[in-house]
Amino acid sequence: MPTRTSHCEVAAFGAINLDTIVKARQTIKRDTSTPSDFIETPGGVAANVARALARCGVSSALAGAVGQDETGAMLKRMLAEAGIEISDVRELEKPTGRYVALHDPDGSLAAAAVHGEIADSLPPDFFDEMEGAAASARIWFVDANLPALLLSRVMEMAGERLLVADAVSVAKAPRLAAILPRLDMLFCNRAEAAELAGMTPGASALELAAKLARQGAKACCVTDGARPAGCALQGECFSISPLNARVVDVTGAGDALIAGWIAARLKVPAGRPALEAGFAASAIAVEAKGSAPDNLNWDAIEQRMREN
Ligand SMILES: Nc1ncnc2c1ncn2[C@@H]1O[C@H](COP(=O)(O)OP(=O)(O)OP(=O)(O)O)[C@@H](O)[C@H]1O
Ligand SMILES: [Mg+2]
Repeated sequence: MPTRTSHCEVAAFGAINLDTIVKARQTIKRDTSTPSDFIETPGGVAANVARALARCGVSSALAGAVGQDETGAMLKRMLAEAGIEISDVRELEKPTGRYVALHDPDGSLAAAAVHGEIADSLPPDFFDEMEGAAASARIWFVDANLPALLLSRVMEMAGERLLVADAVSVAKAPRLAAILPRLDMLFCNRAEAAELAGMTPGASALELAAKLARQGAKACCVTDGARPAGCALQGECFSISPLNARVVDVTGAGDALIAGWIAARLKVPAGRPALEAGFAASAIAVEAKGSAPDNLNWDAIEQRMREN
C-alpha cells in the first residue's frame, strides 16, 4: 500500500527542468564564443514556483515527470533539499527536460533553448493515480508546459480548489483556452496574452487583461517586463507598475511573481495587496542570478513592499 505523504498548502503541476544559465562577460556575438559564467539550477515554471514558495515558508508539492537519467536523479535531490515534496514527481523513459539561457551582461536574454519533450508527452490521465502530497493542497498551480488534454483533466480534478495558471510561452499559451473560464488567476506576459486573447501583439497589457477577463478568466495579470502590467480582478481593470530594480538576470521573474502572489493569498484576501507582494517578489528575483534566488523569502518580500 502506498503511504500518503505530508500535507501541503500548494501543489504545482508542470515542467521540471535542469536550467543552465549562462551570464556572458561581454555582449554576446554570433559565430564566436563569449567568455561567460555558468550556473545550473532546477528550472521549469512549476518547479520554480514550488521552489520560490518553499523559500517563502509555504509547504509545496511538485507534480510532474523527470527522466530515468542522472539529470533527473540530481534534480529530484536538489528539489527535495529545497524542501519541496516530490512524492508526485515520477520517472519516465524520456530525457529530463533541459533549458539553456544566454544572458548579456545587462541581464537581458540573448537566446534560449529548451528540450521539453517529457512534459509534452504526458498522457491525459497522468495525474489520475497520484499517490503523494499534491492532492492535499488547497491551491493548485498549473503551467502550460502540460498538454491541453492533461490541463483539462487537472482542471476537473481540482474541484473547489483555487486554480492558478501560467501561460509559459506564445506557443503554449493557447493550451489554456479550454480551461480559461475555470481559472481563478491567470499569469501571462503581453505576447502570450495576445496569442490567447486573439489580439494583435501591439495591444497594451491593460487591454489584454480586460479581454481575457471578458473571455472568462476570473482574474488575470498580464506582465510586460519593466513596463506596467495590466490586471483584471474582481470586476476591475487596472495597471500596476513593477518596482524599480537593478536587473541582473530576468530568468524566472514571472515565476517569482506567481509565487509571491500565491504566498500572499495564503495570508491576505484576494486583491491588490497580493499582487503587490508578487511584484516585490519579481523585483527581488530580477536583482539576483537564477530563478528563486537564495534571498527570495517572505520577510524580504514584506520589506521590499514597505520600501516602495
Ligand atoms: N527589466 C525588468 N525590470 C524590472 N522588473 C522586471 C523586468 N523584467 C521583468 N520584471 C518584473 O517581472 C515581472 C514579469 O516579467 P515578464 O513580463 O518579463 O514575465 P515573463 O515574460 O513571464 O518572464 P519569465 O521569463 O519569468 O516567464 C514584471 O511584471 C516585472 O515585475
Ligand atoms: Mg512567464
